[in-house]
Amino acid sequence: MIRPRKALHHTRLAIWLAALALLAVTPASAADIEAGRAKSQMCMVCHGQLGLSVRPDAPNIAGHPEIYLRSKLRDYRSGTRHNEIMNVIAKGLSDEDIANLAAWYSAIRVEATAPR
Ligand code: HEC
Repeated sequence: MIRPRKALHHTRLAIWLAALALLAVTPASAADIEAGRAKSQMCMVCHGQLGLSVRPDAPNIAGHPEIYLRSKLRDYRSGTRHNEIMNVIAKGLSDEDIANLAAWYSAIRVEATAPR
């Protein structure tokens, strides 16, 4: 039989383990992919519905690393990276928008096939 003290100890241990497991699965960013999808409406005319470009001068942005997308959008917003179109567009984005957009585009899966 487990004595009360020991039972308490086990409960504490279980809570600790549960907390650790939660920490392990919670992503570092709380970015919202769905909000990113909604925001991406304003990007579609050039970058396509799923981040595959529909204009010859716009790059594909689907499947890029999240960190890369975030940093590029911040660079456009601050003007560190210069492009007339993207500077104007990024000016209107909040930190949250940028995080959500980066989460959305990075979550899109892209496949590559070597040329024959
Ligand atoms: C009117 C067309 C247009 C719209 C709308 C637009 N973009 Fe762009 N985007 C471009 C062009 C053109 C470039 C290439 C700019 C350059 O040469 O730096 C670009 C570049 C980018 C890049 C850099 C890609 C890389 O490989 O470094 C990102 C990220 C990006 N856009 C995200 C977005 C997001 C997110 C939105 C919507 C909030 C958006 N764009 C809306 C035209 C557009």
